[in-house]
Amino acid sequence: MAFVRNAWYVVCTQDTIKIGEPFSRQILGEKIVFYRKQDGTPVAMQDRCPHRFIPLSMGKVVGDVLECAYHGLQFDCSGSCVKNPHGDGRIPAAARVASYPVHEKHGLMWIWMGEKQADPARIPDYSVLDEGTGFSISGGYLHMACNYELMGENLLDLSHITYLHDGYLGSPEQVGADQVMVEKADGVQCNRWMPNVSVPGIFDLLYRRDGQPVDMWTNMRWMAPSCFLLDTGVHAVGGEREGHGWYYGVHILTPETENTTHYHFIAAMPPDTKLSPEDDEKFRTLRRYAFEMQDKPMIDMQQQAIGDANFWDLKPVLLSVDAGPVRMRRTLEKMVAQEQAEREAAKAAVAKPSREAAHA
Ligand code: FES
Ligand SMILES: [Fe+2]
Repeated sequence: MAFVRNAWYVVCTQDTIKIGEPFSRQILGEKIVFYRKQDGTPVAMQDRCPHRFIPLSMGKVVGDVLECAYHGLQFDCSGSCVKNPHGDGRIPAAARVASYPVHEKHGLMWIWMGEKQADPARIPDYSVLDEGTGFSISGGYLHMACNYELMGENLLDLSHITYLHDGYLGSPEQVGADQVMVEKADGVQCNRWMPNVSVPGIFDLLYRRDGQPVDMWTNMRWMAPSCFLLDTGVHAVGGEREGHGWYYGVHILTPETENTTHYHFIAAMPPDTKLSPEDDEKFRTLRRYAFEMQDKPMIDMQQQAIGDANFWDLKPVLLSVDAGPVRMRRTLEKMVAQEQAEREAAKAAVAKPSREAAHA
């Protein structure tokens, strides 16, 4: 399987990367080392020394360069070897590693691994996470033993909350709710509207704490290839959205390998949400429990059941709730195919003039 490469992917939270400390993470199947230079600028490069292939992340940052732990070659932030401590000190032309553009936005570190120009304006809009908005932010990270598309399907089809998260995030009367898919320029949005349902625990905590029925919504936006923003909440039956009782759920998937995924989840609660520190802790714990103890085992097991088979070859049964997930898969297939076609066209364009020159 190929990944969409011309896209921004989240590496980690901004504060994970420290001045002078190498941090290693595998993204799109490639091991990458990150660190910050003395002035705080983040750096990303291939985590494999071109000499004997030791992970450069095992080495140390010396000033603004990274020194391999094995024989001491030093690389600058562009991936060029700038010091060979051996022999006459000559630097072989092949002594370089790939480097990648990184950008910090919304408290997150983003990386661009495509061949096209990295444009920070293409980072999905998560301004709700920015300082000064008054939203209360809490989040976490999970390592998933599944392909990112399986996790994406989980997020785009929230009909599973009735079964997998019953009592926490969902409730029984939600079954059969209309799931409406809305086309967007950069993906789709799947909206579920669930009037007069028993209130799931996490929403009772945020809203009235009286256990009485509510109207509930889950509107999940997908921004290709792997960023999601959920608008979810409750209000009184027949009422309107209030200043509290809802939150934004930021869900961001970064493929690690074909069968593993970095999963970042963040909740942004509106300023009128008044939770005591204990209830705030309860909210965080409930969400993490749902993702870690309910979603993760399910989807990791789903990946094991699928193994290396092609998803479509298994002829999955399709239900009405699958419109969003199927659209996501088809869109990703098209994006990957288009990138491949452009790559081949670029290769052919390079090969053609040189062939013509050879025959001249
Ligand atoms: S393996 Fe890195 S310098 Fe030898
Ligand atoms: Fe879930």
